[in-house]
Amino acid sequence: MTAADHLVIAVDGPSAAGKGTLARRLAGHYRLAFLDSGMLYRAVGLLLIRQGIDPTNETAAAEAAGRFRPSLLQEAGLRDEATGEMASRVAAIPAVRQALLHWQREFADDPPGGARGAVIDGRDIGTVVCPNATAKIFVTASQQARAQRRVKELQERGEGAIYARVLQDMIARDARDQSRATSPLRAAPDALVIDTSGLSADQVFDRAKAFIDLRRRA
Ligand code: DC
Repeated sequence: MTAADHLVIAVDGPSAAGKGTLARRLAGHYRLAFLDSGMLYRAVGLLLIRQGIDPTNETAAAEAAGRFRPSLLQEAGLRDEATGEMASRVAAIPAVRQALLHWQREFADDPPGGARGAVIDGRDIGTVVCPNATAKIFVTASQQARAQRRVKELQERGEGAIYARVLQDMIARDARDQSRATSPLRAAPDALVIDTSGLSADQVFDRAKAFIDLRRRA
């Protein structure tokens, strides 16, 4: 495989905007390895919850991030709302972000399973983790559309969810993700921005694919 064949696709955006659906589909289409980078922050959040560590204790949070290993991505409870909340808090700590950076870059540079590249979804993949990605896509949607999707997702998993509460949590988490000093959530200047509010998954995929194919030829 030559360096030119190595394909890295960065998919960033806020929660429940449709990043995961798009990223998984792109990985299947281009036969690339897929990493949901939010799961790394969730794994660190889960370590803190289990050990009763307060997320304002930056030293302890950084120490937990230093203990991150990919095997932690198999743990139950990573997708729980409480873990997501904790993940959003620890993600604001620069030393935590630094500790998780090399795992993400290693995945992009040397994808598992001999894949010829990777799709990574997150908040800062196009801006910080893989600034030289082949193609960067920023997926967004209105807070109302995202809260509705999250409620549906939670209900499908058998968890009760109240729309107003989910929307409130989402607004708070967006504010934290966007305002943190280190790697705030924002679109890279060279990213394709897709607002998925009124689009089907197929329409989102088609737009992303057309953009990626253009970038690959560039
Ligand atoms: O995508 P998610 O909800 O699983 O992410 C959980 C938290 O992790 C989210 O609030 C922001 C943070 N995160 C981040 O700061 N950078 C990433 N690349 C991925 C997630």
